[in-house]
Amino acid sequence: MKKDITQALVNEHTLILRMITLLERNAPRTADGTYINWQFYLDGVDFIRNYADSFHHAKEEDVLFEALVKNGMPRDNSPVAAMLMEHDQGRAFVATMETAALAALAGKAGQEGVIAQNALAYAELLRGHIDKEDEILYPLAERVIPDNMRDDIIEGYAAAEAKTPADFTARYESVVAAYEQE
Ligand SMILES: [Fe+2]
Ligand SMILES: [Fe+2]
Repeated sequence: MKKDITQALVNEHTLILRMITLLERNAPRTADGTYINWQFYLDGVDFIRNYADSFHHAKEEDVLFEALVKNGMPRDNSPVAAMLMEHDQGRAFVATMETAALAALAGKAGQEGVIAQNALAYAELLRGHIDKEDEILYPLAERVIPDNMRDDIIEGYAAAEAKTPADFTARYESVVAAYEQE
């Protein structure tokens, strides 16, 4: 049997989707003025930057997607190119959300609309993105990546994990769980 190269990424999507669900729950309440815990959005930015982006997206961009390109998928005008563009679009929504949440925390009025809009835009983008990866790109990778490339991919994931603190995933799971209880 071929060694699995996508299940770890699917598992990471599960935690990212829990944060997206929180954004979808809280952003409409921020837009109508009933949820003003700005720290939630800053913790959301921290989660997205460090867990979703530096950790998960780096595994995709530096390891799995590179392997797909090495295996013959074009770097431009391809599913990989589309996924990379969506990673960048997500970063832009998150940067705008962060600026507005920091301003709100510092006492500046009228940030609710920008925070809510960018939180929801990120949530919608990432939900669709994760769906395409789970349903199309990862199954494709499992079909086309040959056995002799799989050990390198698994080592690449391990190297990304080795760069994180020992409690990295547990810490982000507990941040998400705490807001789920809020
Ligand atoms: Fe991705
Ligand atoms: Fe992903």
